[in-house]
Amino acid sequence: MAKARCFTAFLLISSLFLAPYFSISEADSSAPIESGLSWTFYESSCPKVESIIRKQLKKVFKKDIGQAAGLLRLHFHDCFVQGCDGSVLLDGSASGPSEQDAPPNLSLRATAFEIIDDLRERVHKECGRVVSCSDILALAARDSVYLSGGPDYDVPLGRRDGLTFATRNVTLQNLPPPTDNADAILSSLATKKFDPTDVVALSGGHTIGISHCSSFTNRLYPTQDPNMDKTFANNLKGICPAANSTNTTVLDIRSPDKFDNKYYVDLMNRQGLFTSDQDLYTNSKTRGIVTSFAVNETLFFEKFVLSMLKMGQLSVLTGKKGEIRANCSIRNPDNKLYLASVVEEEVEEEAWSEF
Ligand code: HEM
Ligand SMILES: *[C@@H]1O[C@H](CO)[C@@H](O)[C@H](O)[C@H]1NC(C)=O
Ligand SMILES: *[C@@H]1O[C@H](CO)[C@@H](O)[C@H](O)[C@H]1NC(C)=O
Ligand SMILES: *[C@@H]1O[C@H](CO)[C@@H](O)[C@H](O)[C@H]1NC(C)=O
Ligand SMILES: *[C@@H]1O[C@H](CO)[C@@H](O)[C@H](O)[C@H]1NC(C)=O
Ligand SMILES: *[C@@H]1O[C@H](CO)[C@@H](O)[C@H](O)[C@H]1NC(C)=O
Ligand SMILES: *[C@@H]1O[C@H](CO)[C@@H](O)[C@H](O)[C@H]1NC(C)=O
Repeated sequence: MAKARCFTAFLLISSLFLAPYFSISEADSSAPIESGLSWTFYESSCPKVESIIRKQLKKVFKKDIGQAAGLLRLHFHDCFVQGCDGSVLLDGSASGPSEQDAPPNLSLRATAFEIIDDLRERVHKECGRVVSCSDILALAARDSVYLSGGPDYDVPLGRRDGLTFATRNVTLQNLPPPTDNADAILSSLATKKFDPTDVVALSGGHTIGISHCSSFTNRLYPTQDPNMDKTFANNLKGICPAANSTNTTVLDIRSPDKFDNKYYVDLMNRQGLFTSDQDLYTNSKTRGIVTSFAVNETLFFEKFVLSMLKMGQLSVLTGKKGEIRANCSIRNPDNKLYLASVVEEEVEEEAWSEF
């Protein structure tokens, strides 16, 4: 307990340097959470899990801050498709590590998968196989936000890893395309109980990261979207000279690597990259929310944290469901199939905790 408090104090102190205006680390610990999850889940089984992840990600982001965006998006894809069960990490998932023919708008960074399994290895080395890949991903997404300049917040833990990846169809059904307008995004996310404020706040994830041309060239060719600023459109045409161009560009032109509220300022200037972004400012149901976040970053951070907590608990597996994967990209070999004895299984567990 003393250790936990000490750790919180450390977070609050470091947030004084990195995000001087915001920390609700204390306040949200009392928010209601899904049964089976806990704010102190690994307090005795792996007390260092959060510090191991944060320390390593600080190193990773120092070399390439772009990786933060890749990790944040990976957590979003995990949670939206079949719940936050690490299924997106499995080989064979429609946008997973080994999927070469995923639609371009699903393309996740290969390095994001590697970073998660590297964190998994570090954590399991310290504690044995007790922390799930889905929890590691949720913590990595939180640290990606915080270490890019965004809010710090506590993440309820205790997710377990799913045994199956989602089919391509299920994946496509659950991840709306960037070509959707705000009404389509609102109704898609309403099926997961997200309200318009959640939709606008979560879309703020686009304050960091990049996109391939193919995700937005429908707004440039054959005709230019009248809701796009003309200078912005001309610059994008330079980066993406044709609809099939393979270049990438930043999602938030004002501060592409910083987690801040500038994404909403972009939208107010008709410099949103996707239809799904820009239409949030056109649509009367969401326009006021966009404006309120553009003028008040504290408000955006507060709402973003609440929506991330919601997203991070979508259809989680807890208790005895699922498993704790020994390798984030493959499910554990089912020992029962090989008629392994209980003794052998126990020996294997020992081996993991020694690892
Ligand atoms: C609301 C519906 C959403 C749509 C339609 C959408 C669509 C997209 C698309 C098309 C890309 C670019 C993919 C590419 O061409 O490479 C992208 C990137 C990204 N998205 Fe979203 N997204 C949505 C919600 C979210 C949410 C909820 C988050 C996180 C809170 C998020 C975080 C990101 C990040 C960080 C990137 C950049 C990834 C990188 O740089 O590797 N998105 N999104
Ligand atoms: C997947 O979706 C496509 C198009 O909607 C449909 O033609 C196909 O039958 C679906 N496949 C499965 C396995 O459900
Ligand atoms: C990807 O984008 C294309 C066109 O831009 C769209 O037809 C497709 O539905 C999108 N799919 C997803 C899953 O975003
Ligand atoms: C984008 O790709 C084209 C080739 O399709 C290339 O000529 C151009 O220089 C690239 N632009 C940028 C900004 O990377
Ligand atoms: C894009 O399409 C054009 C013509 O349709 C073709 O000449 C070009 O090679 C394609 N470029 C890429 C990067 O696929
Ligand atoms: C900005 O939002 C915060 C958090 O909701 C609120 O406390 C504050 O009063 C707002 N600031 C302004 C200037 O409206
Ligand atoms: C995890 O499994 C993948 C796929 O089988 C394999 O390529 C990778 O080397 C494994 N990672 C570790 C650390 O064993």
